[in-house]
Amino acid sequence: MNTVFGVFGDPIAHSKSPDMHNAAFRKLGMECTYHAFRVSPENLKDALLGAKAMGFGGVNLTVPLKQEALKIVDADPLAEGIGAVNTVDFKDGMVGYNTDGLGAKRSLEEKGVKIKGSNVLIVGAGGASRAIAFQFAKDGADITIANRTEEKAIELAAGVSAVGSARGCGLENMKQLIADSDILINCTTLGMHPKTEGTIATANDMHSELTVFDIVYNPLETTLLKEAKKAGAKAVTGEMMLVYQGAEAFKIWTGVEPPIEVMKKAILEGF
Ligand code: ATR
Repeated sequence: MNTVFGVFGDPIAHSKSPDMHNAAFRKLGMECTYHAFRVSPENLKDALLGAKAMGFGGVNLTVPLKQEALKIVDADPLAEGIGAVNTVDFKDGMVGYNTDGLGAKRSLEEKGVKIKGSNVLIVGAGGASRAIAFQFAKDGADITIANRTEEKAIELAAGVSAVGSARGCGLENMKQLIADSDILINCTTLGMHPKTEGTIATANDMHSELTVFDIVYNPLETTLLKEAKKAGAKAVTGEMMLVYQGAEAFKIWTGVEPPIEVMKKAILEGF
């Protein structure tokens, strides 16, 4: 029988997750399909219970459901710390995970970038920043979170300090912060379509030993990444975080490592 998977969110029409997962299922010859479902926070509990009752293989959650899910599912400690769930598995009750940070980790590791022991500067203090900060701190990186609203960075860093080394600050000393870093990650919306000229830093602020990862993937080559290349730094594009967060969810549900290249191709065809 066909096993159904899905992503719940609102809005959800433009989600690339169905294309990505269905391409992987097809490639592996698995009798599974993945669909997008519009679900509001008020209906999340019913939707999850319904999905479990109907034998769904698992679901992803996206905006605006990731925080709400913590009240409903048994979240693993990492998702609990992050304060958000993006993957629910139904094998043993309803267990919630957050694979966003792992997605970022694998995006960097596939480029040969080491996270353990690295000085990582994360700019921004929203949901993506939380996921990456908790994951990377747990993996032994030294984390600095810099945000336009400094208090949010300090608050997030205080939470992250429970699992590793972290501090928060404002954006004033960006050049010095980057000089002290091995990895710079943009978790703000700066540079995203349509205001593509925005950037958290320019080539003058960077050094050639730096790795620059932009989680913005629309456009794929952001102004920040162009500046990174000018500085001779390593530039890592954001679409791989989307691919790898999906791949990690796929593994949680099926126990199978999905074909990464097939998933990446499916995502890029949607651009
Ligand atoms: P997500 O959940 O995708 O991470 P978010 O929660 O909307 O997104 O967070 C957006 C981040 O981008 C925030 O850290 C925001 O900074 P503030 O906390 O000060 O609002 C940051 N951001 C957005 N526009 C920015 C700008 N023009 N300059 C600097 N930071 C900006």
